Amino acid sequence: MLSNMDLKIGDLIIEKPIVQGGMGVGISLASLAGNVAREGGLGLISSAQIGFREPDFEKKPKFANLRAIASELKKAREIAGTMAKGAVGFNIMVATVGYADYVKEAIKHGADVIVSGAGLPLDLPELVKMGMKLRKELFEEAPQKIYNKCKEFVTKIAPIVSSAKSASVILRLWDRNYKSTADMVVIEGPLAGGHLGFSNNDLHRLGADTKIVSKTYLKEIFDKEIEDIIKVVSEYENKYEKKIPVIVAGGIYNKNDVSHAFKLGAAGVQVGTRFVTTHECDAPLAYKEAYINAKEEEIRITVSPAGLPGRAIENEFLRRLDKGNIPVRKCYDCLSKCNRVDIPYCITDALISAARGDVDNALLFCGANAWMAKKLESVKEVMEELMSGVPGACLV
Ligand SMILES: Cc1cc2nc3c(=O)[nH]c(=O)nc-3n(C[C@H](O)[C@H](O)[C@H](O)COP(=O)(O)O)c2cc1C
Repeated sequence: MLSNMDLKIGDLIIEKPIVQGGMGVGISLASLAGNVAREGGLGLISSAQIGFREPDFEKKPKFANLRAIASELKKAREIAGTMAKGAVGFNIMVATVGYADYVKEAIKHGADVIVSGAGLPLDLPELVKMGMKLRKELFEEAPQKIYNKCKEFVTKIAPIVSSAKSASVILRLWDRNYKSTADMVVIEGPLAGGHLGFSNNDLHRLGADTKIVSKTYLKEIFDKEIEDIIKVVSEYENKYEKKIPVIVAGGIYNKNDVSHAFKLGAAGVQVGTRFVTTHECDAPLAYKEAYINAKEEEIRITVSPAGLPGRAIENEFLRRLDKGNIPVRKCYDCLSKCNRVDIPYCITDALISAARGDVDNALLFCGANAWMAKKLESVKEVMEELMSGVPGACLV
């Protein structure tokens, strides 16, 4: 299948305008991201507790995570293969403790793109410079440890935004402080999975009834927000005389969702939930089965220890949480916004349990459309269906 709708992120050309969203903990690692890149899309590895399978993770989580950034990128590149027309990047949440070190490590080893949300990535342009310097030093010492086709290639950066206001704040500060702008912008709407960039007040402003997930917001209101964000981005396209592709995420599940995003002016889509139920997804089978068995009314909005709403499948864990806090065994110092003193549960523990398949004791993050999964599919099949919604894509 070939598309005439490449995603151009500066000098990085990706055959298909499909971004697989970063999903932590352990849901989008080398296998999913590498297979998406192999099929011509942009695969994002989630850096969230990426080293959870390393033997020293319990004692030194940060060391384990930094090491795993390099090893997962290497594996993803091997899976994608040298002929891949896609790319591999990282999703690194701003709210992660040690954010700057993780970003620099990913750039050092040659990530194609860094996508950052869950906070405002105000220093990201500076971190690219620092990471590129580390990459040059690494190249002198050990060129085989740089997992990128081209040693001169500069890692591209993309903030995740949920409103025209946040887009405007980030781009204005990057312009003022670094005389630079974004290479791509991801808009994440209220139907997305994982932590949502909306407070409950925002969701109500969007016409939400948070008890009924399919009515998390009124589509027309958020569509207008998407158009407003695109306008903000276009100011910086004009100023910097470069194209900044805008990618729409949240609730994109089938070709109609893709074509709607393109009609609004998107240059691509970012998809999370639909990729979870692929054979290649790094999640354990029990996690994928929880999606396949979920009913629409079992998908809930819950509050994470970081104080943000998140979307998850109702299970034993959430029902226990309804009755009271779940004692915290230890602190992994993972999210800067986590109020360590009085939290309902430990998010690292709950997400690692999910990544290990212990689904009754886990937080099962998912997007609003998770209930639509009926069977396991291949990444290739998902990419083909999504591409059929891209206007102008020629399917061969
Ligand atoms: C299981 C799961 C985990 C996620 N984890 C993260 C994460 O660690 N960081 C992040 O920025 N977004 C995360 N997301 C959001 C996705 O990257 C993506 O933008 C979003 O889910 C898109 O909406 P969709 O799932 O409806 O396609 C997660 C989503 C899911 C479903």
